[in-house]
Amino acid sequence: MSATATRSTLAERYIAAFPQSQARYAQARTIFPAGVTHDVRMMDPFPIYVERAKGSQKWDVDGHAIIDYFVGHGALLLGHSPDDVVAAVQEQMAKGTHYGSCHDLEIGWGERVQQLVPCAERVRFTSSGTEATLMALRLCRIVTGKPKFLKFLGHFHGWHDYVAIAADAPYDGTGVPGVPDAVAGVCVSVPPNDLNRVEETLKNDPAIGCVILEPTGGHWGTVPIRGEFLRGLRDICTRLGRILIFDEVITGFRVAPGGAQQYYGVTPDLTSLAKILAGGLPGGCLAGREEIMSYLEPRPGRVKMKHPGTYNGNPLSAAAGIAVLDRVATGEPTRAANASAQQLRNRLNAMFAANNWPWVAYGDFSMIKVLPNYQGPRPDPNAGVNDGLIPLNGDLNVLDGASSARLTTAVRQGMLLNGVDWWKLAGMTSSAHTAADIAQTVTAMENTVGAILREGIM
Ligand SMILES: Cc1ncc(COP(=O)(O)O)c(C=O)c1O
Repeated sequence: MSATATRSTLAERYIAAFPQSQARYAQARTIFPAGVTHDVRMMDPFPIYVERAKGSQKWDVDGHAIIDYFVGHGALLLGHSPDDVVAAVQEQMAKGTHYGSCHDLEIGWGERVQQLVPCAERVRFTSSGTEATLMALRLCRIVTGKPKFLKFLGHFHGWHDYVAIAADAPYDGTGVPGVPDAVAGVCVSVPPNDLNRVEETLKNDPAIGCVILEPTGGHWGTVPIRGEFLRGLRDICTRLGRILIFDEVITGFRVAPGGAQQYYGVTPDLTSLAKILAGGLPGGCLAGREEIMSYLEPRPGRVKMKHPGTYNGNPLSAAAGIAVLDRVATGEPTRAANASAQQLRNRLNAMFAANNWPWVAYGDFSMIKVLPNYQGPRPDPNAGVNDGLIPLNGDLNVLDGASSARLTTAVRQGMLLNGVDWWKLAGMTSSAHTAADIAQTVTAMENTVGAILREGIM
């Protein structure tokens, strides 16, 4: 892939560089709505098709090596196909993929969650993060007898009806197509980082039984949340008798071996986990205080929450999860991924400043956000993990508002043309990313923004 500027546009170069993907997409359009199996994979004029991946890279059907910042939608803290995880899954595959019975691996997997995650007195496996938050909310309704819950604008907790509300811009109360009003009515959403608003809302609405949030901020830190807010929330929920749920589907095992709750020393009552938990295979869990989780048990004189699920505690996912969590427990994968992301943020900012471009990179831990059209103070290049800037005082509608499809498509195309798969205006690192990957990514961004400016896309 040539990184040099030519007369052709990014879109034209993209089409020329990925002909095999284009052909696959033509076929996929006849099978899948929009040609894809996940909304995030929709891309104009077509997405890339990948045939193998290892470490920090994936290879597409046109033979390009691509540095990957999707990292399995956040699931691959160790990068793609680590040898020990592959071996563990292969060994288990030969022994059986589903016993329809209890098994040793689920015990080992659950024990590791208990050991790593501060609130995890008890654990129940699910098949996904969406199922874990669904379970958390129903469990809270049973335990508290209160039908409603509080969430934050711009916080994503999966795609089930209850949490679809206020997950994405616009944050003006617009309903989500297909979600019944009666369901939407049990979700109360408030802006992040406003403790007074939370306290007032909970005091004024006794029907709210619990509070759920992404503990480093919605959409993995687009509007960052820091420890002070988490400590305040813990205090409010304890004082007002509400259950506090950290949705650590992304942050769990990523920001620290025990997640954001360990890093910030704030223990929620319940935590939803998935992604890294299952080592890149499907799987999730709800973990939390025994007193609450015990409502999954039959106890005399008390209701029990029903919870089936064909793939709960699946042996293959358990084998992968155990292999990954043993590496997570050393702290090394988190340290390496955080260090790479910090280096990338700093180098992107140095590059933006050197070009005099009004762009900024920010973010905490192993998560990186890129913000165009930014005129405010720049982050300190020496800022450590989690003490960086919150741009624009955390203005939700700018940081996480509707973005220009033309711009985000151009960024994606430009980065892919330069050998980098980047989530529109964001990326996540794994422990497999190298200094050479970071250097190539900065050059890719420089070429991409340069082309965008030349084409007048913004
Ligand atoms: C914070 C958060 N919660 C829940 C989910 C849903 O998890 P899943 O995609 O496994 O259903 C996601 C998925 O990205 C997430 O980021």
